[in-house]
Amino acid sequence: MSARQQVQNLLDFIDASPSPWHVVKTIEALLAAQTPPWQRLDETAKWSLQPGGCYYVVRDDSSIILFVQGQKPLAETGFKIVGAHTDSPGLRIKPNAASSTDGLVRLGVEVYGGPILATFADRDLSLAGRIAYKNDQDEIGSMLVLFDQPLLRLPNLAIHMNRTVNEEGLKLQKQTELPLILSGLTDEQLPPAYFSALLQQQTGVDAGRILSWDLAVYDTQKGVFWGKDSEFYADSQLDNLASCHAALQALLDPAAIPSDATRVCALFDHEEIGSQSNKGADGSFLPDVLGRIASATATATGSEDYARALAKSFMISADMAHAYQPNFPNAYDSGHKVTVNKGPVIKVNANHNYSSESVSAAMFADWCEQAGVPYQKYSHRCDMPCGSTIGPITSAKLGIRAIDVGSPMWAMHSIRESAGVLDHDYMIRVMKRFFAAR
Ligand code: CO
Repeated sequence: MSARQQVQNLLDFIDASPSPWHVVKTIEALLAAQTPPWQRLDETAKWSLQPGGCYYVVRDDSSIILFVQGQKPLAETGFKIVGAHTDSPGLRIKPNAASSTDGLVRLGVEVYGGPILATFADRDLSLAGRIAYKNDQDEIGSMLVLFDQPLLRLPNLAIHMNRTVNEEGLKLQKQTELPLILSGLTDEQLPPAYFSALLQQQTGVDAGRILSWDLAVYDTQKGVFWGKDSEFYADSQLDNLASCHAALQALLDPAAIPSDATRVCALFDHEEIGSQSNKGADGSFLPDVLGRIASATATATGSEDYARALAKSFMISADMAHAYQPNFPNAYDSGHKVTVNKGPVIKVNANHNYSSESVSAAMFADWCEQAGVPYQKYSHRCDMPCGSTIGPITSAKLGIRAIDVGSPMWAMHSIRESAGVLDHDYMIRVMKRFFAAR
């Protein structure tokens, strides 16, 4: 498949997945179309796993772990894991969402993670997420909800009222200046179930039965190719759906199933807020699933063999990297400029904000060379705080060797990020090489 086609598939994947809950739904749809078939495992049921079997586990609708059970004993091969995250920073709708003032209805929002807030102004925004409701059997269920059309907006202040905006940048006060305009007010007063009634229209669930929701604000604009030769692409959520998509392409490669080693793709929600939750990378999800993989095979792995398996394991923590933007040379370490379309980036940080160390970096570099893929090395400026990833957290929890890598991109945490077409294909190729490595 051409690099361009890979990126078109990525853009389709992102555009179908405007919230972390939709990411998991999109992946499940992808799995349903695969041969061999993929089986969903329920965490409350007993598992019985077959060598060569393809399985996945979903925790709370927005984190998913997929694995292909290896043909050889775990202690011999270890786990080969690629980790990434399903969430992106942005705005989330507050519980008592709607309020009215001066003839307009607005939705109150909370900032999720660290978005570039100014990029949310003047975009064609809408809502995606899930509702929790009481069903006809009086049980609590959840259902995804998606508004396709632009529903919300954060209109900028005109320059005539904000004369210094180009000198000082657009500053938005988080409590008072972020509520999003939803509609003009037709009645004198806002009815109490105003927002639930809107959710009812979209889901068919009676407003009185909708008890709660998780709703993300997303940009309805679809992904595009850009540049003179369409060598770049742009969309929302490249951080980190580009890594999720690359990992899936490598794992689902039919030519690689079955395999000797157990291959795992662990895609977590809540990375952007620190990963501490029941489904985050700092929670028990991955240790639980790996432990159960070890104990649910026909030849159940004993505790010493499980420790041996972890000692043999490797994890690629895939998250996007900061590409050099020549308009802002002072933002980068001049010796560590990484360029779009020049290959995967090995991220190094002596204080271990990234999990990479010399041996794991050398192993990754070797896989790149074997795959015929160029690679680059990134180190953040010493006088700026460095971001982190799920890499250090998961490798510390499990005691396994890990590396932090990512494709270079511009404008991380903007609502409209961009990256290079070749890099996505490079990343898929090196991940395939990693899964196939001995
Ligand atoms: Co990220």
